[in-house]
Amino acid sequence: MPTYADVYESWRRDPEGFWLKAAEAIDWFEKPTKALDASKKPFYRWFADGVANTCWNAVDRHVAAGHGDRLAVIYDSPVTGRQARITYAELQERVARLAGALEARGVTKGDRVIVYMPMIPEALEAMLACARIGAVHSTVFGGFAAHELAVRIDDAKPKAVLSASCGIEPGRVVAYKPLLDGAIAEATHKPDFCLVKQRPEKEAELVEGRDVDWDAAVADAPFAECAAVGGDDPIYVLYTSGTTGAPKGVVRSSGGHMVALRWTMENLYGVKPGEVFWAASDVGWVVGHSYIVYGPLLAGCTTVVFEGKPVGTPDAGVYWRMVQEHRIAALFTAPTALRAIKRDDPEGALIRDYDVSSLRTLFLAGERADPDSIQWAQRALGVPVIDHWWQTETGWAIAGNPVGIELLPVKLGSPTKPMPGYDVVILDEAGQPAPPDTLGAIAIRLPLPPGTLPTLWNAEERFRKSYLATYPGFYETGDAGMIDGDGYLYIMARTDDVINVAGHRLSTGAMEEVLASHPDVAECAVIGAADPLKGQAPVGFLCLNKGCGRAPEEIAAECVKLVRERIGPVAAFKTAIVVERLPKTRSGKILRGAMAKMADGAAFKAPATIDDPAVLGEIEAALKQAGFAGGA
Ligand code: COA
Ligand code: AMP
Repeated sequence: MPTYADVYESWRRDPEGFWLKAAEAIDWFEKPTKALDASKKPFYRWFADGVANTCWNAVDRHVAAGHGDRLAVIYDSPVTGRQARITYAELQERVARLAGALEARGVTKGDRVIVYMPMIPEALEAMLACARIGAVHSTVFGGFAAHELAVRIDDAKPKAVLSASCGIEPGRVVAYKPLLDGAIAEATHKPDFCLVKQRPEKEAELVEGRDVDWDAAVADAPFAECAAVGGDDPIYVLYTSGTTGAPKGVVRSSGGHMVALRWTMENLYGVKPGEVFWAASDVGWVVGHSYIVYGPLLAGCTTVVFEGKPVGTPDAGVYWRMVQEHRIAALFTAPTALRAIKRDDPEGALIRDYDVSSLRTLFLAGERADPDSIQWAQRALGVPVIDHWWQTETGWAIAGNPVGIELLPVKLGSPTKPMPGYDVVILDEAGQPAPPDTLGAIAIRLPLPPGTLPTLWNAEERFRKSYLATYPGFYETGDAGMIDGDGYLYIMARTDDVINVAGHRLSTGAMEEVLASHPDVAECAVIGAADPLKGQAPVGFLCLNKGCGRAPEEIAAECVKLVRERIGPVAAFKTAIVVERLPKTRSGKILRGAMAKMADGAAFKAPATIDDPAVLGEIEAALKQAGFAGGA
């Protein structure tokens, strides 16, 4: 059996041959004659002359191969008490009819469709139906507010929006329809129609002439065939947080996406067709796109749609109940979920209530995996706990431990080694490769492998500036870290203003834009402070207009409410602190890094360029009063 080193080396020696071979696992209508098109450097395209269909490969292909009775989707919803099991043959029928309903209403290849849905099987079906007819889906996480949805509608200009009447959070029903209506009212672009899945927990009123009942539309829809889609055609756009308030529309091309994801299922995750793969994430995030929807289905596995939380639905044993009941072979979750479970069940006693013997591997990603949580899970479950590192932009792991090839020794705090396709380097401030064990910017030598972003939606220049400009010839990941003498990678921090709250990527810049819009706020800054459960939590600092005459705590409370209304509950913005001044350099740059370190009670050095060092003392006092920096 080849080792990881053999496989990585085989890619290094012959990247073209490596990816063409991987492409053989895909059913093409027209086989690609070459893998990489580098004619427009630094922009690269993969499998550009191949023609295939992702929905065919994820669904129809398995039915055609005689696996129609195999389970494709298991839906388990502790928040509603409902479960469903959908075979590949049933999935094909449901997706083809939904695709037919879209086509009947004018959606064609290349049109965008926004999917704003809770964790129900219809969310997957929506994405697959788009893929079937070559439409480009853009799925928006349900925890975002109407304004964020409006921003995405205006950028993607969808012909249709697929949504549901409500989502369910523990203890509350989230009515989606008012959010959708609000977003469409706010957006300049108007979709032609919305398809709304009515849920019994809260039905929505449909807007005459615009909204269509999902079930009725599908019931009399024709069966749509799979369209021929070029390898370089986009399959989806997924918006993610950047440094400013405007989210980045990460584009995913169809051919490379299929090839890369299919390769990872076997080699990185070590699962086989027919096995059950559960990514406990949400379809609104990249993990959901790659490993709830596409990866498992491309590989002929059974995927799991879980509508619940790691704790409280009903308790910290729900993951283990899921493993037992559905015979889950691989579980993928975020470290924050493990921390939540560990907090409620420190001894892992609830695990012993279930037979978790089907579970071979636990995978973690989305944020730094703290050694404590890894060790706790290793002890409690007795299986390898594998950290792996990736980003919305890459769509699959940059670094990981490829258990399907070889389980490399686990080093706590490291997501192990680069996957084939990724030549990862640490660059110093001058853009030169840094020696082992030295902290620097993590960059990837171009070209990025198949499945990674070719560009940003309608924003090629932003793509170039954000990722390719700082280190010519490299992709800038936005993460800082190091590589040790054994070639293990360590991810330490972001180099930009992106923070990671409960595994969710958020922009402090976007929160600052909201705070600055409050009429009494003169200036503001948002930082990420360490949080024992969520990894990081946003903390806002507000300087008020002179003589505004209102109680600071009243304004702070309004600001907390404003962020929830504008960005959404997912921002988890709960702390706004009113201060007199913000610490700045003499050129006026706010010292957010110093403030973040101070909030965590960590050592830091004030830069020599600081304007007035006394401000740091004021900030520290305010942080202590708010319970940070070793305060109350
Ligand atoms: N629709 C509407 N609201 C949502 C939502 C959705 N799809 N998802 C989350 N929210 C809301 C939550 O209800 C919460 O609202 P609240 O402020 O009224 O309590 C808020 O957004 C923050 O949610 P979250 O960050 O999930 O925190 P939580 O306190 O509800 O739960 C954990 C904490 C650790 C249990 C939870 O964060 C979790 O399950 N994390 C796993 C994350 C994960 O899998 N990420 C995937 C990335 S790979
Ligand atoms: P997202 O685009 O939401 O997947 O977030 C990507 C960012 O999350 C990365 O750039 C990292 O900052 C962080 N991240 C994801 N996985 C890991 C990991 N395994 N270890 C450390 N950080 C991670």
